[in-house]
Amino acid sequence: MKSTNITWHGGQVSAADRSALLGQRGCVVWLTGLSGSGKSTIARVLESQLIGNGRLAYVLDGDNVRHGLNSDLGFAPTDRQENIRRISELSGLFADAGIITVAAFISPYRAGRERAREIVGPERFVEAYLDVSLEECEKRDPKGLYQQARAGEIADFTGIDAPYEAPENPQIRITTEHATPADAAGKIMEYLAENKFLSAQ
Ligand code: ADX
Repeated sequence: MKSTNITWHGGQVSAADRSALLGQRGCVVWLTGLSGSGKSTIARVLESQLIGNGRLAYVLDGDNVRHGLNSDLGFAPTDRQENIRRISELSGLFADAGIITVAAFISPYRAGRERAREIVGPERFVEAYLDVSLEECEKRDPKGLYQQARAGEIADFTGIDAPYEAPENPQIRITTEHATPADAAGKIMEYLAENKFLSAQ
């Protein structure tokens, strides 16, 4: 840590006050999976389902965050680590604000996701793994990136010449090969309802 002589300031308003105001418990739904596994699509559908149900939700998405906050980062392992560290801090603040935060990042390293869980707080961190095979993602190739990676035009591409460490015990596992985005979002909604995130604490 470079900053010294700094003090953490709490306020007079607690997380419980915000929760009561919003009628929900802030949390982070952390979507992880290969590029093309459906993270962004499912995140958007989930966000609309939540808003449609009168819940405050917000999506943080890899491609978008890399346009702004993380525009200085690439895809080398240390850059991905820093990408995920900043997103973890950011989504932790959103959750503390009471928002149901949907983070959609490849987040290929198990250690990075475990650190995200610690930063956000394990009690409000929901890991959802989009378990879609590389073959299927490559077949979909919505942005044409796999084709470019195979042609050697993109280096360090996840699944091709960079690793993806699948979660071992995610809270939610979705095999989107066989589910529509609405089904997948519905499954996450059910989890959130069952675990009392959709009502005040
Ligand atoms: S992460 O690995 O650091 O979590 P993140 O989710 O932010 O990645 O960004 C992934 C998106 O960046 C992909 O969906 C894809 O559109 C784009 N991208 C560009 N280069 C790469 C690469 N080398 N590997 C993976 N994704 C890449």
